[in-house]
Amino acid sequence: MSELFLNRYKLISLADYPQYIDTCAAWHFTAWGVKSDQRTLKKDIKKFQVSTEKNKVPFTVIFMDTVKNVPVAMGSVWDKDSDYWSTISPWITGIFVHEDYRNQGLAHEIMKVLEKELIRMNIQNIYLTASAAINFYKKLNYTEVETRDAPETPTGKQTLFKKELL
Ligand SMILES: CC(C)(COP(=O)(O)OP(=O)(O)OC[C@H]1O[C@@H](n2cnc3c(N)ncnc32)[C@H](O)[C@@H]1OP(=O)(O)O)[C@@H](O)C(=O)NCCC(=O)NCCS
Repeated sequence: MSELFLNRYKLISLADYPQYIDTCAAWHFTAWGVKSDQRTLKKDIKKFQVSTEKNKVPFTVIFMDTVKNVPVAMGSVWDKDSDYWSTISPWITGIFVHEDYRNQGLAHEIMKVLEKELIRMNIQNIYLTASAAINFYKKLNYTEVETRDAPETPTGKQTLFKKELL
């Protein structure tokens, strides 16, 4: 990551900045909730209210734009993220970058930060699901495990990915 980039963006933990819980939940609901009957903004707020651990799951990290002093990207690790694949854990989830800040490498950086944190916690395997951004995760060396029909997703399909971290 370039020095310019590092100077502009600061990584923070939602644990230290609970004032951003509503922003994270709104991003999450907009990206994944609006098409689902099961999800409400209120439920997403509750998920982020508990996604505020430090040094253990569930946690959330955020990139701040230090010039505008606003949150611009997020990523989380949760114990549970799928009713379909309900027996595996933990999950990288909620990788989201504000539209104005996309294609600058922020999502890649968030993934790197989350993986580093998981390795520090001695977590061996990490899972995630994707519908549209399949190649994004393949490039980060995630392996496709299974794909299912998922009408609630933008593509109608959802793929389970796994990565061995240790
Ligand atoms: C997907 C997303 C997180 C990427 O964020 P970003 O900061 O722009 O990503 P980066 O700059 O680190 O990486 C960009 C790469 O991702 C790819 N990408 C971005 N969105 C994609 C999508 N919907 N489908 C496939 N690839 C995508 C870009 O083509 C680019 O590829 P390249 O590295 O070969 O050039 C962002 O577009 C987003 O928040 N989208 C809405 C939420 C979402 O779909 N999250 C993913 C969960 S499945």
